[in-house]
Amino acid sequence: MTQKILLLPGDGIGPEITVEAEKLLTVLRDRHGLDASWSRAYIGGAGYDRAGHPLPPATLDAAKSADAILLAAVGGPKYDTLPKDLRPERGLLGLRAALGLYSNLRPAILYPELADASSLKPEFVSNLDLLIVRELTGGIYFGKRETVVETDYKVGSHVIPKARVARDTEAYSDFEVERIARTAFETARLRGKRLCSVDKANVLDASQLWRQVVIEVAKDYPDVELSHMLVDNAAMQLVRGPKQFDVIVTSNMFGDILSDIAAQLTGSIGMLPSASLNERGQGMYEPSHGSAPDIAGQGVANPLAMLLSVAMLLRYSLKRGDLADKIEAAVRKVLAAGLRTGDIAKPGEARIGTAAMGDAVVAALGA
Ligand code: IPM
Ligand code: MG
Repeated sequence: MTQKILLLPGDGIGPEITVEAEKLLTVLRDRHGLDASWSRAYIGGAGYDRAGHPLPPATLDAAKSADAILLAAVGGPKYDTLPKDLRPERGLLGLRAALGLYSNLRPAILYPELADASSLKPEFVSNLDLLIVRELTGGIYFGKRETVVETDYKVGSHVIPKARVARDTEAYSDFEVERIARTAFETARLRGKRLCSVDKANVLDASQLWRQVVIEVAKDYPDVELSHMLVDNAAMQLVRGPKQFDVIVTSNMFGDILSDIAAQLTGSIGMLPSASLNERGQGMYEPSHGSAPDIAGQGVANPLAMLLSVAMLLRYSLKRGDLADKIEAAVRKVLAAGLRTGDIAKPGEARIGTAAMGDAVVAALGA
């Protein structure tokens, strides 16, 4: 049966890199036996501009009925002054929640050709290949929140007669920890069989539960080596010796932070895709970079993270790992051939634009 892909170009460089993804999908359909069709919808600032909401109802409906979603990027300075509920990020968070996309897979791979792009010395990062499994629909992102005025609010020995107080709640149930832990163990099984669970169990109740549940789930995966690390130490270890990690599993908030560190280790956030999956294997795929408003519309953005997101989409949702392998091989080929967009070029090195990079990947796919 023809599978349905929803394209969400969003904001900033999103539309430009979506053009390249569509180019790739078209060639895969016409010449490589991909049985898929696709349509587009608005999200983020583009949703707000067109329909007054970052996640318009028509977009949500289309997302629910799609087999997979390819989202480019949301956000931009133009929307910074909107109320919180209308900000572009709400479109993204709304989709994650509405589709129950609790498993977020964020690989950080350093391509040997780009070893110089990292801010770390090559010996620390060459051949880096780690995966962060981030819980994506729970924790402080979705916990109870409020901003209120309280009387006689205590701060140590101070008593504030009238204080404005804002709170966000970090809450995890055993159910939520267990299912993300299973995703992480299953994924580790397919890789280096080492899983590091990151928490703040020395301080937080939610982290203590997290650790207990991960230890319980581990009994079903005796072939995977489990370790635990406190998040502050994990941040340090990622910078000190990132190659010690295979798979990291962590909460929504810690995963947000650690995945940015991991991305920077590769020196080229323009290269990293990500996948967010639900229980049914339905997935949303996105480049890890943002909407890069500073270079939007100039045709210079790196489309490779977007094209590698297409590869993840084919592998995890459309079950076409064979085509995913082809895309990844094609990306390696263009890098080996020395083709570079501005973000991954060394000073003085020749640069090509978004469309030329997309064309090069398509050409490198071969027959
Ligand atoms: C990410 C982003 C989002 C997040 C923002 C845009 C809400 O930083 O996907 O990592 O914090 O989850
Ligand atoms: Mg983030």
